[in-house]
Amino acid sequence: MAIERTFSIIKPDATRRNLTGAINAIFEKNGLRIVAQKRVWMSRAHAKKFYEVHAARPFYNDLVDFMVSGPVVVQVLEGEDAVAKNRELMGATNPANAAEGTIRKLFAESIEANSVHGSDSLENAAIEIAYFFAGTEIVG
Ligand code: TYD
Repeated sequence: MAIERTFSIIKPDATRRNLTGAINAIFEKNGLRIVAQKRVWMSRAHAKKFYEVHAARPFYNDLVDFMVSGPVVVQVLEGEDAVAKNRELMGATNPANAAEGTIRKLFAESIEANSVHGSDSLENAAIEIAYFFAGTEIVG
């Protein structure tokens, strides 16, 4: 298995409830190293562009509103098979369908306020990392 980097966001519902440390503990316990991390409050324009792929979906405007409703923690996670590993730790999009022990099962409030984002492919991971971080901010 290859060492990969993936992009993660701890979403506003989770920062609001002081869950950053609890979520990071799950990443670290499962072999994902946090090689970059910062707390940001996204502008509407930044959030709209980040979720542009969903622009035609009925939930798009509400999703953007939610993502700018408070601060988020953006991160780069590094480890073996990091993209798939993170998706596994996150659990299904809808917490009602998420497996026991996953971040979304443990913490998500709803399908929208679902605590974490994680890249769905290595290609998207590279794009999303570059959208938030300069190379010098990532320290492996
Ligand atoms: P998606 O990329 O399908 O899920 P994931 O985050 O698991 O990769 O959707 C992106 C986000 O859009 C999702 O985390 C929460 C939001 N969303 C809704 O608010 N309603 C929905 O019906 C769906 C499918 C997603």
